[in-house]
Amino acid sequence: MRQNMVIANWKLNGGTELIAEFANQWDSLTANNVQVVVCPPAVYLAAAQAHPSLVLGAQSCSAYQEGAYTGELSAAMLHEVGARYVLVGHSERRAMFGETDEVVANKIAAAQQANLVPVLCVGETAEQRSAGFTAKIILQQLEQGLLQADLTRLVIAYEPVWAIGTGETASPAQAQEIHALIRNWVAQQDKGVAAKIPLLYGGSVKPENAAELFQQQDIDGGLIGGASLDVEQFKAICTAAQEI
Ligand code: 13P
Repeated sequence: MRQNMVIANWKLNGGTELIAEFANQWDSLTANNVQVVVCPPAVYLAAAQAHPSLVLGAQSCSAYQEGAYTGELSAAMLHEVGARYVLVGHSERRAMFGETDEVVANKIAAAQQANLVPVLCVGETAEQRSAGFTAKIILQQLEQGLLQADLTRLVIAYEPVWAIGTGETASPAQAQEIHALIRNWVAQQDKGVAAKIPLLYGGSVKPENAAELFQQQDIDGGLIGGASLDVEQFKAICTAAQEI
């Protein structure tokens, strides 16, 4: 049995009010054993801990544990203020903040050392897809990003860059094809892990398309951006995950 999971990535949005709304609705979000995780901006994690039912994640962590790294937050610090998960290698960080596969590998190692479960984000750009490089890019991101990783404490999210925040979702068949590729790659490393690891789809998931995506064989839930800022929309997506 694989764990169904829905993660809210608020990006640079939200705050204490939205955290309180999520806390109020938490029981209906998490029914039927769906693991729901909320990733607010990290400054709100400590306050979010006041709602003990919330399961929290961070949107990024430093590859370093301590030292002269102005503005960075270590995985251990994030764990101390309540994070249990951390997104690593989100395409926005790869594109805008120089997060290479090598940095991703170091961040995943730092996260696991601090007992955070990393959520490795992989995905191809529109140009890479139209040039026929999708599988190559995804496999490279897996191989290089997971060089030092303990695969038993990991979530992987497939987020095609062209589908993020654009309203253009991958079709269920396109998403399933890449999820199967990812699960096969994990199976080549460890069959037992492949049977259990949650693989999430992200990129313009909405209440209207969530059920069809989540019904695909290798899709265990979603990583949700825009629609996670509206608790009613997010609840509808969590309900779709309850029915997988
Ligand atoms: P959207 O759901 O807004 O497309 O964002 C997806 C995403 O980047 C989640 O990490």
